[in-house]
Amino acid sequence: MTRREALKAIGLAIGTATVGLSGVSGLTSCSQEKKRLVFYFTGTGNSLYVARELGGENVISIPQALKNGELEYEADEIGVVYPVYGHMPPNIVKDFLKAARLKADYFFAVLTYGNNRGASPEVWDEFATSCGYKFNYITTVLMVDNWLHSFDMNEQIKIDKKIPEQLERIKSDLAAHVGGMDEITDQDRQFTAGFLQWTGMNKEDGFKYEASERFHIDPDKCIECSTCTGVCPRGNYEYGSQGLTVSGQCDYCLACIHACPQKAISFKPSDQWLLGPERNPDARYRNPNVSLNDIINSNRQ
Ligand SMILES: Cc1cc2nc3c(=O)[nH]c(=O)nc-3n(C[C@H](O)[C@H](O)[C@H](O)COP(=O)(O)O)c2cc1C
Ligand code: SF4
Ligand code: SF4
Repeated sequence: MTRREALKAIGLAIGTATVGLSGVSGLTSCSQEKKRLVFYFTGTGNSLYVARELGGENVISIPQALKNGELEYEADEIGVVYPVYGHMPPNIVKDFLKAARLKADYFFAVLTYGNNRGASPEVWDEFATSCGYKFNYITTVLMVDNWLHSFDMNEQIKIDKKIPEQLERIKSDLAAHVGGMDEITDQDRQFTAGFLQWTGMNKEDGFKYEASERFHIDPDKCIECSTCTGVCPRGNYEYGSQGLTVSGQCDYCLACIHACPQKAISFKPSDQWLLGPERNPDARYRNPNVSLNDIINSNRQ
């Protein structure tokens, strides 16, 4: 068996470099088992936690796959896990699906969200179809809402969102290769249409900001620990002659502001209602099953 055939057999990248930073090297599937690969993007760990629950060690960070140009994969089952942003996929997830060449008998997507998912499964279905993929199963998981503009993280973590029960349902659906997506009501569709209308956003651009216009770094609080440079999937934080600066295309994943140990990063004021002042500037969030290093290893550029 050639190296290429061997990699194909265990469902790894059929490209130049093969193993991402997310533990794919630890593949444990035996030849009788379905080979499942789970791609994920995360800002604060929820989606990584879900990806690991569904994919074990066979999880691949989307920012790392893009960074390393590892874009060709084949497996029996391929999943994508990501956080819903205004009912849309993050731009980096869209970048990946547009560029990747994925082959599988069964595709599934699991969308994490915190409060209102709207018609997000349909939004993914439409986008994936435009990229030439038919996702057999699309579902959602309600988790902590990391949207600091509206939610106090200290309050969010107290809410029992029944995550284990949701994951059990998804695991058994996947084991049975269930098809279809979550039921979407007309009200869900109205939420999504209303969100786009009220914010003036469109599905093509999604959440796309210039990072320097959204984030302020307080030099008196910053201890130059490099956490923000590590967790940003767009590599927007840099040390230079001006000290630490932030600039570049921002997906608004909030990884930087949540992960800064000094709370030295804050939002710049905005006149858009969506981007109002933080609910609690003293509260930050990371999924309790995910370490800071996990997020850095997932996102570092
Ligand atoms: C830019 C942005 C937009 C969001 N939009 C929504 C939304 O429309 N509906 C919702 O329920 N949660 C929304 N959330 C919350 C996240 O989807 C949710 O907390 C998710 O589980 C975070 O996943 P992560 O920890 O993997 O980053 C949004 C969060 C961010 C950062
Ligand atoms: S994470 Fe916070 S303290 Fe650390 S370098 Fe960035 S801004 Fe400074
Ligand atoms: S600047 Fe912050 S919010 Fe924007 S992409 Fe980087 S980590 Fe995410």
